[in-house]
Amino acid sequence: MSTIPVAVIGCGTIANSAHIPSYVKDPRAKITWFCDIIPERAEAARDAYGSGKVTTDYREVLQDPDVKAVSVCTPNNVHAEITIAALEAGKDVLCEKPAARTCAEAEQMLAAKKRTGRTLNIGVVNRFNEAVNQIKERIDAGELGTVHHVYVSFRAHRSIPGIGGAFTTHAIAGGGALIDWGVHYLDIVMYCLGDPEAKTVSAETFSVLGRDIPNYVYESMWAENTADMNGVYDVDDSITALVRTTGPVVTVMGAWAQNIGVGEAFIDFMGDRAGIRLQYGGGFTVYGTEGKKLTTEVVEAGTGNMFAAEISSFLDCVETGSENPARMEQAILTSRMMQAMYDSAAAHREVILD
Ligand SMILES: NC(=O)c1ccc[n+]([C@@H]2O[C@H](COP(=O)([O-])OP(=O)(O)OC[C@H]3O[C@@H](n4cnc5c(N)ncnc54)[C@H](O)[C@@H]3O)[C@@H](O)[C@H]2O)c1
Repeated sequence: MSTIPVAVIGCGTIANSAHIPSYVKDPRAKITWFCDIIPERAEAARDAYGSGKVTTDYREVLQDPDVKAVSVCTPNNVHAEITIAALEAGKDVLCEKPAARTCAEAEQMLAAKKRTGRTLNIGVVNRFNEAVNQIKERIDAGELGTVHHVYVSFRAHRSIPGIGGAFTTHAIAGGGALIDWGVHYLDIVMYCLGDPEAKTVSAETFSVLGRDIPNYVYESMWAENTADMNGVYDVDDSITALVRTTGPVVTVMGAWAQNIGVGEAFIDFMGDRAGIRLQYGGGFTVYGTEGKKLTTEVVEAGTGNMFAAEISSFLDCVETGSENPARMEQAILTSRMMQAMYDSAAAHREVILD
């Protein structure tokens, strides 16, 4: 078995917690480059791994003809630039979610994939989540009947990540709660329903609770290490939307921060025969009927090691040139839907997609 030389570009949280450990688990991969604009981060990742070259310039990585596969684990503002350059250099790419800051950037990534014929996967990791795959199988088998409505709720009391830092700066992230968090939920909906296309989108976004950074009071702050109390907050901290698709209607309530007390993290798939509630990151419950009786089936499924499965599937694509469910052609549908949500919110009216 020949090894696949891999480069990791961006050596922060997701690289160290998911990509690098998953490559370590797969005997086919050998990480040969660690790249970060902060040299200490590239060096620390290399030292923990044990070998490999370090650089602060991703172009140096792409000039190495031996590199076959690249993980792009940088903030969203350079996803498109680095991914397109890597594809043009003949590398296969797994780029973290969201694909990019805007749909226009994501379309450029898709065009580069088509032009170069390389693999381009996006880190829509829930496509490798065991519970999600069980739900998809049940929907595909017709257990829910026709799914006419999906309700997505991802709402935290007050939990804005790294306030003032990259997550809350529009120029870097491209958006807030929707693009960072909602992308996972919308992607699960798209995956389970066979990737329907959005037809009309009506949305409002709100940038309210994080605006006054020095006085923001919070319950929790993931990515607290990246917070900058003198930084920027110009993204959505909550969103509501109604989307008509070529499949079911999708309604969305999402928030990093709302004055709601208890948060929610679930997706309701509502069919005419049965319904399923997926607790995000956990198992699911099936609500149906049997004769004249109501039935409730609790399924204690979990995510499994979805990051390891995502990386393993990416390496399959690199080895064989095959396509997987996380390919750019799928991810672009969610990019288009999210862009329409942001456009609808900016215009305060419905957006019609052709
Ligand atoms: N799949 C998931 O569940 C998941 C979870 C967390 C983050 N993410 C995504 O992963 C990406 C990174 O998030 P993170 O939390 O790891 O952020 P992070 O800030 O912890 O790490 C990003 C790293 O990229 C480096 N970087 C920035 N610009 C660079 C460049 N031009 N070249 C090389 N390195 C560069 C930064 O210095 C930093 O070390 C984001 O797009 C985020 O949305 C995905």
